[in-house]
Amino acid sequence: MKVVAFNGSARKDGNTAILLNRVLDELRAEGVETELVQLAGKEIRGCVACMKCFENKNQRCSADKDVLNDCIARMLEADGILVGSPTYFADVSTETKALIDRAGMTARANGHMFKRKVGAAVVAARRAGSIHAFDSINHFFLIGQMIVPGSIYWNMGMGFKKGDVESDREGLDTMKQLGRNMAWLLKKIQGE
Ligand SMILES: Cc1cc2nc3c(=O)[nH]c(=O)nc-3n(C[C@H](O)[C@H](O)[C@H](O)COP(=O)(O)O)c2cc1C
Repeated sequence: MKVVAFNGSARKDGNTAILLNRVLDELRAEGVETELVQLAGKEIRGCVACMKCFENKNQRCSADKDVLNDCIARMLEADGILVGSPTYFADVSTETKALIDRAGMTARANGHMFKRKVGAAVVAARRAGSIHAFDSINHFFLIGQMIVPGSIYWNMGMGFKKGDVESDREGLDTMKQLGRNMAWLLKKIQGE
Protein backbone atom coordinates (compact mmCIF):
# COMPACT_ATOMS: atom_id res chain seq x y z
CA MET A 1 0.00 0.00 0.00
CA LYS A 2 1.43 3.35 -0.98
CA VAL A 3 0.57 7.04 -0.60
CA VAL A 4 2.24 9.74 -2.66
CA ALA A 5 2.16 13.35 -1.45
CA PHE A 6 2.68 16.38 -3.68
CA ASN A 7 3.87 19.63 -2.16
CA GLY A 8 2.69 22.37 -4.51
CA SER A 9 4.48 25.14 -2.65
CA ALA A 10 7.02 27.30 -4.45
CA ARG A 11 9.01 27.01 -1.19
CA LYS A 12 10.67 23.65 -0.56
CA ASP A 13 10.47 22.18 2.94
CA GLY A 14 8.14 24.95 4.17
CA ASN A 15 4.90 24.81 6.11
CA THR A 16 3.04 22.71 3.53
CA ALA A 17 5.85 20.14 3.58
CA ILE A 18 5.77 20.05 7.40
CA LEU A 19 2.01 19.41 7.39
CA LEU A 20 2.24 16.75 4.69
CA ASN A 21 5.05 15.03 6.57
CA ARG A 22 2.84 14.83 9.67
CA VAL A 23 0.27 12.90 7.64
CA LEU A 24 2.97 10.70 6.09
CA ASP A 25 4.48 9.94 9.54
CA GLU A 26 1.13 8.48 10.66
CA LEU A 27 0.71 6.52 7.46
CA ARG A 28 4.17 4.98 7.85
CA ALA A 29 3.36 4.11 11.48
CA GLU A 30 0.38 2.17 10.06
CA GLY A 31 2.63 0.29 7.63
CA VAL A 32 1.87 2.35 4.53
CA GLU A 33 4.73 3.16 2.14
CA THR A 34 5.05 6.90 1.47
CA GLU A 35 6.71 9.32 -0.92
CA LEU A 36 6.90 13.12 -0.91
CA VAL A 37 7.27 14.96 -4.22
CA GLN A 38 8.11 18.66 -3.89
CA LEU A 39 7.29 20.77 -6.94
CA ALA A 40 9.35 23.79 -5.82
CA GLY A 41 11.93 24.71 -8.45
CA LYS A 42 10.57 22.20 -10.96
CA GLU A 43 8.99 23.22 -14.23
CA ILE A 44 5.25 22.55 -14.35
CA ARG A 45 3.06 24.44 -16.82
CA GLY A 46 -0.70 24.91 -16.87
CA CYS A 47 -3.11 23.01 -19.13
CA VAL A 48 -3.07 24.34 -22.71
CA ALA A 49 -6.51 22.83 -23.48
CA CYS A 50 -5.24 20.93 -26.54
CA MET A 51 -7.48 18.00 -25.52
CA LYS A 52 -5.00 15.60 -27.11
CA CYS A 53 -5.26 13.44 -23.98
CA PHE A 54 -8.75 12.47 -25.24
CA GLU A 55 -7.25 11.38 -28.59
CA ASN A 56 -4.13 9.65 -27.24
CA LYS A 57 -5.76 7.93 -24.24
CA ASN A 58 -2.31 6.76 -23.10
CA GLN A 59 -2.56 7.94 -19.45
CA ARG A 60 -0.19 10.79 -20.24
CA CYS A 61 -0.51 14.51 -20.84
CA SER A 62 0.52 15.31 -24.42
CA ALA A 63 2.70 18.18 -23.15
CA ASP A 64 5.69 16.08 -22.19
CA LYS A 65 8.39 18.66 -21.44
CA ASP A 66 7.95 19.10 -17.69
CA VAL A 67 7.43 16.98 -14.56
CA LEU A 68 3.69 16.44 -14.98
CA ASN A 69 3.78 12.97 -16.55
CA ASP A 70 6.17 11.82 -13.86
CA CYS A 71 3.63 13.05 -11.27
CA ILE A 72 0.82 11.21 -13.07
CA ALA A 73 2.86 7.98 -13.10
CA ARG A 74 3.39 8.29 -9.34
CA MET A 75 -0.33 8.88 -8.81
CA LEU A 76 -1.19 5.81 -10.89
CA GLU A 77 1.05 3.49 -8.89
CA ALA A 78 -0.19 4.83 -5.52
CA ASP A 79 -3.30 3.78 -3.61
CA GLY A 80 -3.63 7.21 -2.01
CA ILE A 81 -2.80 10.74 -3.14
CA LEU A 82 -2.17 13.77 -0.94
CA VAL A 83 -2.11 17.18 -2.59
CA GLY A 84 -0.70 19.97 -0.42
CA SER A 85 -0.65 23.67 -1.22
CA PRO A 86 0.08 26.96 0.48
CA THR A 87 -2.72 29.51 0.24
CA TYR A 88 -1.88 32.13 -2.39
CA PHE A 89 -4.44 34.91 -2.73
CA ALA A 90 -7.07 32.72 -1.12
CA ASP A 91 -6.52 29.81 -3.49
CA VAL A 92 -3.94 27.16 -4.40
CA SER A 93 -0.45 27.93 -5.73
CA THR A 94 0.21 28.03 -9.47
CA GLU A 95 2.12 24.74 -9.26
CA THR A 96 -0.79 23.02 -7.50
CA LYS A 97 -3.30 24.35 -10.01
CA ALA A 98 -1.18 23.09 -12.93
CA LEU A 99 -0.93 19.67 -11.27
CA ILE A 100 -4.64 19.25 -10.62
CA ASP A 101 -5.80 20.69 -13.96
CA ARG A 102 -3.54 18.51 -16.09
CA ALA A 103 -3.64 15.33 -14.01
CA GLY A 104 -7.39 15.81 -13.63
CA MET A 105 -8.07 16.24 -17.35
CA THR A 106 -5.77 13.34 -18.28
CA ALA A 107 -7.63 11.16 -15.75
CA ARG A 108 -10.98 12.09 -17.32
CA ALA A 109 -9.64 11.30 -20.79
CA ASN A 110 -8.62 7.86 -19.56
CA GLY A 111 -11.80 6.59 -17.92
CA HIS A 112 -11.31 8.31 -14.54
CA MET A 113 -8.01 6.52 -14.00
CA PHE A 114 -7.70 7.54 -10.33
CA LYS A 115 -11.19 6.20 -9.55
CA ARG A 116 -11.55 4.87 -5.97
CA LYS A 117 -8.06 5.86 -4.94
CA VAL A 118 -8.06 7.73 -1.63
CA GLY A 119 -7.36 11.47 -1.86
CA ALA A 120 -6.84 14.22 0.69
CA ALA A 121 -5.98 17.92 0.54
CA VAL A 122 -3.59 19.71 2.92
CA VAL A 123 -3.29 23.49 3.05
CA ALA A 124 -0.97 25.98 4.79
CA ALA A 125 -1.98 29.61 5.29
CA ARG A 126 -0.91 32.68 7.19
CA ARG A 127 -4.41 33.93 7.98
CA ALA A 128 -7.29 33.52 5.49
CA GLY A 129 -8.40 31.84 2.28
CA SER A 130 -7.29 28.35 3.25
CA ILE A 131 -10.81 26.89 3.09
CA HIS A 132 -11.09 28.03 -0.52
CA ALA A 133 -7.73 26.44 -1.38
CA PHE A 134 -8.84 23.26 0.44
CA ASP A 135 -12.07 23.18 -1.60
CA SER A 136 -10.15 23.72 -4.86
CA ILE A 137 -8.06 20.61 -4.26
CA ASN A 138 -11.07 18.55 -3.19
CA HIS A 139 -12.79 19.34 -6.50
CA PHE A 140 -9.98 17.39 -8.20
CA PHE A 141 -10.59 14.31 -6.04
CA LEU A 142 -14.36 14.39 -6.05
CA ILE A 143 -14.91 14.84 -9.79
CA GLY A 144 -12.49 11.97 -10.36
CA GLN A 145 -14.53 9.47 -8.31
CA MET A 146 -11.91 9.36 -5.59
CA ILE A 147 -12.71 8.72 -1.92
CA VAL A 148 -11.92 11.50 0.55
CA PRO A 149 -11.39 10.86 4.30
CA GLY A 150 -11.90 13.58 6.89
CA SER A 151 -10.18 14.60 10.09
CA ILE A 152 -10.99 16.53 13.28
CA TYR A 153 -10.98 19.83 11.37
CA TRP A 154 -10.54 20.78 7.71
CA ASN A 155 -6.96 19.88 6.81
CA MET A 156 -5.13 23.17 7.29
CA GLY A 157 -2.31 24.59 9.35
CA MET A 158 -1.59 28.22 10.16
CA GLY A 159 1.83 29.80 9.71
CA PHE A 160 3.67 32.40 7.67
CA LYS A 161 7.43 31.88 7.90
CA LYS A 162 8.96 28.46 7.28
CA GLY A 163 8.34 26.33 10.37
CA ASP A 164 5.57 28.51 11.86
CA VAL A 165 3.02 25.68 11.55
CA GLU A 166 4.96 23.78 14.20
CA SER A 167 3.21 26.14 16.69
CA ASP A 168 -0.28 25.31 15.39
CA ARG A 169 -1.13 22.44 17.69
CA GLU A 170 -4.65 21.92 16.31
CA GLY A 171 -3.34 21.95 12.74
CA LEU A 172 -0.73 19.31 13.56
CA ASP A 173 -3.32 17.16 15.37
CA THR A 174 -5.58 17.47 12.33
CA MET A 175 -2.79 16.10 10.12
CA LYS A 176 -2.09 13.26 12.52
CA GLN A 177 -5.74 12.17 12.57
CA LEU A 178 -5.96 12.55 8.79
CA GLY A 179 -3.05 10.12 8.43
CA ARG A 180 -4.76 7.61 10.73
CA ASN A 181 -8.09 7.91 8.92
CA MET A 182 -6.43 7.60 5.54
CA ALA A 183 -4.61 4.43 6.62
CA TRP A 184 -7.86 3.00 8.06
CA LEU A 185 -9.71 3.71 4.82
CA LEU A 186 -6.95 2.28 2.62
CA LYS A 187 -6.95 -0.92 4.64
CA LYS A 188 -10.77 -1.21 4.40
CA ILE A 189 -10.68 -0.70 0.65
CA GLN A 190 -7.99 -3.35 0.29
CA GLY A 191 -10.02 -5.75 2.42
CA GLU A 192 -7.63 -5.86 5.38
C1 LIG B 1 2.07 34.92 -3.34
C2 LIG B 1 1.62 34.62 -1.95
C3 LIG B 1 0.28 34.79 -1.63
C4 LIG B 1 -0.20 34.47 -0.36
N1 LIG B 1 -1.54 34.62 -0.10
C5 LIG B 1 -2.02 34.26 1.12
C6 LIG B 1 -3.42 34.34 1.39
O1 LIG B 1 -4.25 34.67 0.56
N2 LIG B 1 -3.83 33.98 2.64
C7 LIG B 1 -2.96 33.57 3.62
O2 LIG B 1 -3.40 33.28 4.71
N3 LIG B 1 -1.64 33.47 3.37
C8 LIG B 1 -1.14 33.80 2.15
N4 LIG B 1 0.21 33.67 1.89
C9 LIG B 1 1.07 33.09 2.94
C10 LIG B 1 1.31 31.58 2.76
O3 LIG B 1 0.11 30.89 2.49
C11 LIG B 1 1.94 31.02 4.04
O4 LIG B 1 3.18 31.68 4.28
C12 LIG B 1 2.17 29.52 3.96
O5 LIG B 1 2.53 29.05 5.25
C13 LIG B 1 3.28 29.18 2.99
O6 LIG B 1 3.48 27.78 2.95
P1 LIG B 1 4.88 27.15 2.48
O7 LIG B 1 5.88 27.45 3.59
O8 LIG B 1 4.64 25.72 2.30
O9 LIG B 1 5.24 27.84 1.20
C14 LIG B 1 0.71 33.99 0.63
C15 LIG B 1 2.07 33.83 0.30
C16 LIG B 1 2.52 34.14 -0.96
C17 LIG B 1 3.98 33.91 -1.31
